[in-house]
Amino acid sequence: MTTRQPWPLDVPGIAYGGDYNPEQWPLDIQLEDIELMREAGVGLLSVGIFSWALLEPREGVHDFAWLDQVLDRLHAAGIRVALATATASPPPWLTRAHPEILPRTAEGTVLHQGARQSYAIASPVFRAYALRMTRTMAERYGDHPALALWHVDNELGCHVPHDYSDASATAFRAWLEKRYGTVDALNAAWGTAFWSQRYDTFDEVLPPLAAPTFVNPTQRLDFARFSSDEHLAHYRALRDVLRQVTPHVPTTTNFMMNTRNKWVDYFSWSAEMDVVANDHYLVAADPEAHIELALSADLSRGVAGGAPWILMEHSTSAVNWQPRNRPKGPGEMFRNSLAHVARGADAVMFFQWRQSLAGAEKYHSAMVPHAGRDTDVFRDTVELGRRLKALAEVRGSRVRADVALVFDYPSWWAAEQDGRPTEALDYQSELLRWYRALWELGVTADVVSADTALDGYRAVIAPTLYSVTDRTAARIADAATAGASVLLTFLSGIVDEHDHVRPGGYPGAFRELLGVRTEEFWPLQEGETHTLDDGSTADLWSEKTHLTGATAVRTWADGPLTGRPAVTRRAVGRGAAWYVAARPDEDGVRRLVRSLLDEAGVAPELPGLPAGVEAVRRHRPDGTRFLFLINHTGQDVEIPVRGRDLIRDRELAGHLALPGGEVAVVRED
Ligand code: GAL
Repeated sequence: MTTRQPWPLDVPGIAYGGDYNPEQWPLDIQLEDIELMREAGVGLLSVGIFSWALLEPREGVHDFAWLDQVLDRLHAAGIRVALATATASPPPWLTRAHPEILPRTAEGTVLHQGARQSYAIASPVFRAYALRMTRTMAERYGDHPALALWHVDNELGCHVPHDYSDASATAFRAWLEKRYGTVDALNAAWGTAFWSQRYDTFDEVLPPLAAPTFVNPTQRLDFARFSSDEHLAHYRALRDVLRQVTPHVPTTTNFMMNTRNKWVDYFSWSAEMDVVANDHYLVAADPEAHIELALSADLSRGVAGGAPWILMEHSTSAVNWQPRNRPKGPGEMFRNSLAHVARGADAVMFFQWRQSLAGAEKYHSAMVPHAGRDTDVFRDTVELGRRLKALAEVRGSRVRADVALVFDYPSWWAAEQDGRPTEALDYQSELLRWYRALWELGVTADVVSADTALDGYRAVIAPTLYSVTDRTAARIADAATAGASVLLTFLSGIVDEHDHVRPGGYPGAFRELLGVRTEEFWPLQEGETHTLDDGSTADLWSEKTHLTGATAVRTWADGPLTGRPAVTRRAVGRGAAWYVAARPDEDGVRRLVRSLLDEAGVAPELPGLPAGVEAVRRHRPDGTRFLFLINHTGQDVEIPVRGRDLIRDRELAGHLALPGGEVAVVRED
């Protein structure tokens, strides 16, 4: 049997390119595309993502001529292709013939044809058509010399993370039966003694449809798990066909790992991926969007298990789907692209190659904008190609981190359900607060799942790790015993995997580890802040905590809980367990992280850098180190470093002058 080639096949260096939609353009433009792609050094393109309706205009009738020509032309130009299964959006003939494949909202609204992704992920009818199309694509193009990678569907779960159609209800029941075995076990897990919800058979169970008030939280949590699994099942089914027909070609799909996309648990997908690919878009209104970008890139690496990954989409400039779509400022696109590479990406790609003239995304930027080649955007596209070429030797190297930040999708889902202590809690903002402190202190972190082995990390930060299994709780305690400094924040370890409270005082799963016992949550009102004894302030949260083995690191200096612990620490084995039972302001968080890192002996990547200058290293097994330096400030900075500046192709004898907004990558001596 032919073995699958590891990514990135024979695409040299850091792969560069984007989504290519030639079906929107006449031949003369397609020919110009090739010329411009050569100029920009493009080597990899995603093709055919939304082409189903053109490739199969009527059921069973195919038109491949145009795609044959596109692939041949790209091959002749030395450009490789991540070819799509073309199944990301069913053609109108299919939804007309089979309206039962359309997805439904919780309120029962049918989501019709006319946009994209109008399919019910669990529909066996849709699945059969998608499998057939996938096989057709694999059989037709499996041996095409341009083919480097398969791209299944597109951003699975992007528009319809949860489908409430009949197909979904049937699949949900089967999923529940597999999970629980008996309806009694389901009743116990869902706590259906409450509000007369007891089920007599699985047939009575529904997806969490719109209901008079709060729907059963475990039902909702399981539906979130089911929905993520169902998208994965779809991926796996299409991938298996590809593996069968083209065992030598790796397969991926593009994830949406950022702080907004809540509903796919990518950690549970990672074992199924030949290579992880991510799409990332900046939030234009966020002045610190580059920090959220770094978190997303570290998460991509975490889901990839530390291996290099593909940045499958980002934007050269503005997007068209935020309230106000700001273009990127000078140098911002380089900083974004290279920040992804710094954190482990071995491919930099965009949505899309040429900006569309028609359709819903015509105001989304591209590598070739409406205004054509005589633009800063196209000049930057060419310059980025040059820079990535200069970084070819970085490919395959890896990031190393002493700190783990625990990110748990089920905790995100469960902590933000209805009927909670405060609706002001936003899981992602909590995660980002602690990540931001690490970023500002210049410390690289791995973003890992709650199921990851934590051996080897000197410090572990788990913000609002709300829902934990006994195993996860034990793993975190073991990390402390083994020598790590572990920090947990409020609303961690409160419930088990079924969203049932762990009794006996909060935080149930971590009470012993932390040496505290909380008798009551004390959420703060909007605008209410209180002072801690180090002078920092805290908002949103407090709790009535007793020390049962820990010492207080900070206490409340005012407010209803004056004198009670707000931050605690307990020595555990060779390490320590910290508990932050408050939400300190940014400065307070930074100070706590600094104490934690000092105790754990974790140093920044490059000590002494001015604020706003990002430094991350990638390492090769032979000991070669690549230092990425990204200046997010408007000021020029002097950085002590010795080695070769790869982008500017010059030796640095001991220092680098890095202009405001610029990026350097140094192969260190
Ligand atoms: C992604 C999607 C692309 C394009 C892009 C625009 O979510 O995969 O097809 O729509 O957004 O930002």
